[in-house]
Amino acid sequence: MKRVEDFRLRLGRHELVPIVIGGMGVDISTADLALVAARLGGIGHISDAMVPTVSDRRFKTRFVKQKLKQFKFNVANPDKSVVQFDLAPLAEATRLHVGRTMEAKKGDGLIFINCMEKLTMASPRETLRVRLSAAMDAGIDGVTLSAGLHLGSLALVEDHPRFRDVKFGIIVSSLRALLLFLKKSARLNRLPDYIIVEGPLAGGHLGFGMDWAQYDLRSIATEILQYLAKENLNIPVIPAGGIFTGSDAVSYLEAGAGAVQVATRFTVTKECGLPERVKQEYFRAEEADIEVNLISPTGYPMRMLKQSPAIGSGIRPNCEAYGYLLDGSGNCAYIEAYNRELEKHPDGENISVKDKTCLCTHMRNFDVWTCGHYAFRLKETSRLLPDGTYWLPSAEHVFRDYQYSTDGRVAPAEAPVLQPAS
Ligand SMILES: Cc1cc2nc3c(=O)[nH]c(=O)nc-3n(C[C@H](O)[C@H](O)[C@H](O)COP(=O)(O)O)c2cc1C
Repeated sequence: MKRVEDFRLRLGRHELVPIVIGGMGVDISTADLALVAARLGGIGHISDAMVPTVSDRRFKTRFVKQKLKQFKFNVANPDKSVVQFDLAPLAEATRLHVGRTMEAKKGDGLIFINCMEKLTMASPRETLRVRLSAAMDAGIDGVTLSAGLHLGSLALVEDHPRFRDVKFGIIVSSLRALLLFLKKSARLNRLPDYIIVEGPLAGGHLGFGMDWAQYDLRSIATEILQYLAKENLNIPVIPAGGIFTGSDAVSYLEAGAGAVQVATRFTVTKECGLPERVKQEYFRAEEADIEVNLISPTGYPMRMLKQSPAIGSGIRPNCEAYGYLLDGSGNCAYIEAYNRELEKHPDGENISVKDKTCLCTHMRNFDVWTCGHYAFRLKETSRLLPDGTYWLPSAEHVFRDYQYSTDGRVAPAEAPVLQPAS
């Protein structure tokens, strides 16, 4: 009976434990979580989502305050087209976030950054160029391009001195999306170093429509593996989405995958950035509590717990402080939805927006409880304590469980034996 430990992912000169912890924004896949994966010989992701905000929280910088001060005059204006990101502070925040993480790295594994193209930040090309090059300056090992097709993203940094040294990967949910990307990157003579194939059971945004349930990861991964073999392209394929046990992972590795990407099992670990009360919500979740909806202004479906406070909230758009989803013309689908409701309630009281959410504010406040389809199985991975809460496993425990378990088993995290009070 094989274990994940019996396989290795070869990425250039690196030989890695084939477990990748996926990027989870905003600061849900923390530096601490990524550092555990790297220390244990795998790959961990930090996230590039809302890094100035994350830096303020972690390093006591004042990027958000400064931006809000600059655009305060516009707060009550329904038109957000004046709001822009200054590129220098954006680069500084990214260098700080990535640099501090890379300085702390130990072990033979790697740390990548998950970069979402859909964070258009009022000036899609320029802000993305700055985020990518600042992460490369600060020593990131790899960049995973996600949420969006990223057809022009590699070209933005082709002159960077580390362009051929940093690993670049892409997340796709179909062979069609991969073919478009390969065509574009062939012109730069720079193929991706790895391909994450994300199926419909993943957490976060989905690369499918609301007909996601008609697709399955295994078929998509097989189709992509067959295509790459036929074309003699030796690029590791990394399936993601619903891989809950070591045995699930082995079944993909035996079928030719280079590694697996996993996330949901790590959302309840000590190192994950979610607040403890939210981790407990994940543990308590039942299958019926998990839905895929369209409230993300990006237009992609997203899977989350129905109890997420972000659902139905009608807060005023906070673009002067955040504004990460503003497109090049200063639009975001939440602003439109909010303005529509404001017209019905001009006093601004009791506004509830059902169809969209202010993703920036709510992700920043951990109010979008996004999770993979199997979040309802998280309770199997822990122990219920006498006080009715679940014990939080360490990221090392979960990583090792993926690495060494067999027979579809999950090793629950052992809570300390509590002595009865005398
Ligand atoms: C809480 C959470 C947040 C996520 N955020 C992101 C993200 O910011 N960018 C991204 O590309 N994928 C994101 N994902 C997807 C994961 O990186 C990963 O590919 C997927 O969830 C793996 O499936 P699993 O959760 O069933 O293991 C997120 C997943 C979760 C659970």
